[in-house]
Parts: sequence; C-alpha cells; structure tokens
Amino acid sequence: MYDIHAHILPGIDDGPRNKNESLELIIEASRSGVETLIATPHMKDVNEKRSVKYVRELLKSLQKDVKELKLNISLKMGMENHLTPNSPAMFEVGKSLPINETNFALIELPFFGYPNYVDDSLAQLQKNGIIPLLAHPERIELIQNNPAKLEQYVRKGMISQVTAGSLTGQFGQEVKSFTEMLVTEGLAHVMASDCHRPFGRRSPDLYVGYQAAARLVGEAKAKMLVYDNPRSIINGTYEGY
Ligand SMILES: [Fe+2]
Repeated sequence: MYDIHAHILPGIDDGPRNKNESLELIIEASRSGVETLIATPHMKDVNEKRSVKYVRELLKSLQKDVKELKLNISLKMGMENHLTPNSPAMFEVGKSLPINETNFALIELPFFGYPNYVDDSLAQLQKNGIIPLLAHPERIELIQNNPAKLEQYVRKGMISQVTAGSLTGQFGQEVKSFTEMLVTEGLAHVMASDCHRPFGRRSPDLYVGYQAAARLVGEAKAKMLVYDNPRSIINGTYEGY
C-alpha cells in the first residue's frame, strides 16, 4: 500500500515526539503492508519552528535508519498544507511542498467555517498547476454540512483523501457514516492513515482501513484507494481528476 498522509518526522508537529517513536511508527506501517510513506508535516509547524531544509534533513536521516534496519519501505517528502490566502505564494517560494515533487499537493481546508478566501485560493493553486488533494474532507465542517461542495471541487479537478480511521470509527459514528457515503459515492480517491503515533487511534495501520473499504465497496475499489491511486499520485501520473 501507499500512504500519502503520514506524520512521521520527529519533534516537528503533533506526530512522533522523538526518533525512536518515528522508527516505531515506520516499522508498524511496514508491518501493515505499507511500502511507501509520504512524510506530511504540518506546513505551519515546519516554517514557524524549523524550516523546509531542516525537515528534508530529518527525512534523509530516517531514510538512512530504514536502510540500516533493512525495512522494505520507502520514505518520501510531502507536506500537509493548511489553506490560507497565502497558499499559492507559499508554494512559489518553496515553503509549502507538494507530494514527492509532483503537481499533487495535500491541502487541508479550514476545519470550521467557510472563510471567503477558500475558493479563490484553491482556484489560484490550480491556475498555478497544482492539483489539490483535499485532506480528510469527512472531518471538515464545510463538507460535512454540504457534501455537494466536495462534488463541486472534484468536478473542478481536485481529488480527495479520506482517513482510514474515519472509516473504522475512530472519529465517531457520524464521521464514519459520512466517510462511508463519500467512499460509496466515489467522492474519495485515496485513503491514507494520517498517522501520528505508532499505536492507538492514530496509528499507521492502513490495512484495517482497506478491509473496511473492501467490506463496503469490494476489494477492487478498496485497492484503488490504498494502492493504485496513491501510487500514481506519488509518481505524478494520476489522471482520474
Ligand atoms: Fe494530518
């Protein structure tokens, strides 16, 4: 499986607190069948506390450890970019990062409300050649209140990433049912773990999400969510938008 939303870098955001925890998390991801993990630290934390250069070094160091531990998992750079009026400029100056140097970028909409910059900022990103991959729309109030909004974004060429834990009930029954609806209606293109810790409710176990999706829409469609689609996004060749 290919996990394109994962907080694996130590001491940057609310993910692993130290390198041991990072490695534990990566080992757990590998055990669950993940072969590629995209590190997606929060953009705000990276730039306010450290820098893009610093997190690239952190990733390099983890890649070295993974090699030494002979783990069959590849780590690549990404970022979880919360949407602001400044987002297009942040990409231009390299403070926001896409997924693995492709045109696809993980974008987090505001959790609450519907600030007036949202649509303009998304449109500007697209104009600049970035394809927004909307992070966990099932947890975003704007989409929860109005799923047709997500449909509209998808029609405009954006893609959507649901979180495995949402489908397994880690965020409550309401989020679970809503996620089931998105998956059934084809409004979810990718499933990722959005892992923060090696164990518990924000673990990297993407396989349980795959199983839940398979029960819902069958194995072939579930495989698209955790394998085919994220793989082609990471390679920059995804065309389903
Ligand atoms: Fe996240």
